[in-house]
Amino acid sequence: MEIKKAEFVISAVNRDNLPVDGKNEFVFCGRSNVGKSSFINMLVNRKSLARTSSNPGKTQTLNIFLINDDFYFVDVPGYGYANVSKSIKASFAKMIETYIKKREELKMAFLLIDFRHKPSNDDIAMYQFLKYYGVPTTIILTKADKLSNNEKAKNKKMIIEALEKADEDEIIETSVLKKIGIKDTLDVIERVNQE
Ligand code: GTP
Ligand code: MG
Repeated sequence: MEIKKAEFVISAVNRDNLPVDGKNEFVFCGRSNVGKSSFINMLVNRKSLARTSSNPGKTQTLNIFLINDDFYFVDVPGYGYANVSKSIKASFAKMIETYIKKREELKMAFLLIDFRHKPSNDDIAMYQFLKYYGVPTTIILTKADKLSNNEKAKNKKMIIEALEKADEDEIIETSVLKKIGIKDTLDVIERVNQE
């Protein structure tokens, strides 16, 4: 599959703002600063369709992008960012949780994990949450450009163990800097979108 068209649709703060045309949705979730928005930009081959920042906490709403007039990408705020107030954290968490629990159009979650580090407790909780609600999940390891081949092999094993990754869930190594992981990810999206 090739992404030929990608357009921003809406910033949603709750379900009332979400599209109503029943098209399939793919959500990109993970810790703040892990690279969700950058990863979306790489997939759609656009520099700044989704806003990115070196400061965590950039994305603050559910941002919906229409892809190939056929399905939606959903960019969401990251979790685990210390520098926001408790009430904002709680409202982000509620926004994402409600979306994941109740959204029938959601066909797959991409859970982004920083390839360099052990998954945080929040990462593990997020994965368990997705599994509990039966959302098919693909693990995206980000920032692969920052690791040697040895480190990659070691960390991949460590992350699989820490998450207790289910066998059916794919895991894909990616780098926005080196443009790694585009085809593998688009293949997954194409397969799920055709089901
Ligand atoms: P929030 O919106 O705050 O939740 O963050 P996010 O997960 O959307 O992260 P974002 O895409 O804004 O990227 C955060 C930082 O990581 C930016 O400085 C990116 O340039 C950097 N980054 C993202 N992907 C990669 C990558 O593959 N390699 C490297 N080296 N840096 C990356
Ligand atoms: Mg973002």
